[in-house]
Amino acid sequence: MKEKNALARPDQGLQRPGFSSGFGVLAATLGSAVGLGNIWKFPYLTGANGGAGFLLVYLLATLLVGLPVMMAEISLGREAKANPISALQALAPKGQPWWLVAMAGMLAAFLILSFYSEVVAWVFAYVVKALRGSILSSDPQVTEAAFGALISDPLQSLLWQWAVLVFIGGILLMGVTKGIEALTKKLMPLLFLLLLLLCAVSLSLDKAAEGLAFLFQPDFSKITASVVLTAMGLAFFKLSIGMGTMMTYGSYFRDDQNIPLTTLRVMSADLCVSMLAGIAIFPAVFTFGFAPAAGPALVFITIPAVFSQMPMGQWLMVAFFVLAAVAATGAMLSLMEVPVVILHERFGLSRPKATLLTLSLLLVLGASCALSNSALADFKLFGLTMFDLFDFVSSNIILPAGGIFIALFVGWVWGAGKFRGALTNHGQLANEKLANAVFFLLRYVSPLLILIVMLKGLNLF
Ligand code: TRP
Repeated sequence: MKEKNALARPDQGLQRPGFSSGFGVLAATLGSAVGLGNIWKFPYLTGANGGAGFLLVYLLATLLVGLPVMMAEISLGREAKANPISALQALAPKGQPWWLVAMAGMLAAFLILSFYSEVVAWVFAYVVKALRGSILSSDPQVTEAAFGALISDPLQSLLWQWAVLVFIGGILLMGVTKGIEALTKKLMPLLFLLLLLLCAVSLSLDKAAEGLAFLFQPDFSKITASVVLTAMGLAFFKLSIGMGTMMTYGSYFRDDQNIPLTTLRVMSADLCVSMLAGIAIFPAVFTFGFAPAAGPALVFITIPAVFSQMPMGQWLMVAFFVLAAVAATGAMLSLMEVPVVILHERFGLSRPKATLLTLSLLLVLGASCALSNSALADFKLFGLTMFDLFDFVSSNIILPAGGIFIALFVGWVWGAGKFRGALTNHGQLANEKLANAVFFLLRYVSPLLILIVMLKGLNLF
């Protein structure tokens, strides 16, 4: 069979890089998790789905499904020390096609990168807009018009996206990923500080209490099946799980790394950044009269309003968008890593060729997202533009489905003994009880829960 040939193992005998220190592992994994999912997606989805109730469901999904699946993925990756396709082939009994999960993951990587690169494009464009000072305003009409003008201009949308792809491609092709990760490590605390400052200003606004009530007082009537699915999809997206990113990063983990501890730290830090973004944005939404359900525009139209209330607001806003771009870069690099490492190790392409092929595909697929608010606004499938469709299909279908299969694989194929071995570093760490509990979740709870949420949310039963 042709398929078989393509999947012969050109990766055998390849030297693989690894993370050298425990802190490097944490930083890189965190660099993947924290990105526009926190700064852009979390606030806009929370706003569009009714606020606190959505947040609550999101938290439950993170704990019951996100954490177990993340530990499972990292364990599988570290055990196999290979790209996701090879890993699943090596760990599964002969003839069982679990590697298809990694193929779906590769597709998800392309879909996510296509729209993600466009959102990063808006961030790039906003750095320039912030420098010019033209968006520093608390008037919804002004900030909405500025954002509208950007996304409805096909040329700008496309050129900024190309700039993003060339930028990421440059990092990968010049082999400076490690340097960028080191830089990210230094800059992330700055983003954190800036978010804290934004929160302080936001909390002093007139209607801060209303914003906080929206974010923290659940209205259970707003929790529908599709809201639950969206919250679960967001949990997958934010933790970078369900498609092989964490499996790939796990394959670079050291054998003495404490997987549960790393996972918990990444999840907590990721949650903190999201909460800060939420607290920075919603008081401003209510004070200045923005619509909480403004959609993908939300951050871009409200953040300038908060900065307009600060001394040196213009320069701090420049810093904010630069730091957002830095955070997004770590996430994009981790997304790119999946197709690149698969094409390299599994299909025998050199890393530069694998990178160029991935980028070329993204130029084409990405353009359909870049033009979703202009030239291709009327080009819809299932009633969604390509931007919305790629987002929906990846977050709400492929990632959760990937999560089901990863949980089932560990729960029923790989087995309790090996999973416990991975979480305890073969008896070296006292994570035994935790491993048993997480294994129970993976075997019985997570797959069923994800399946029910998907079927209900997609209106299939
Ligand atoms: N988690 C990242 C963010 O919040 C995005 C991301 C990176 C991702 N790698 C991923 C999402 C893998 C899903 C799967 O911005």
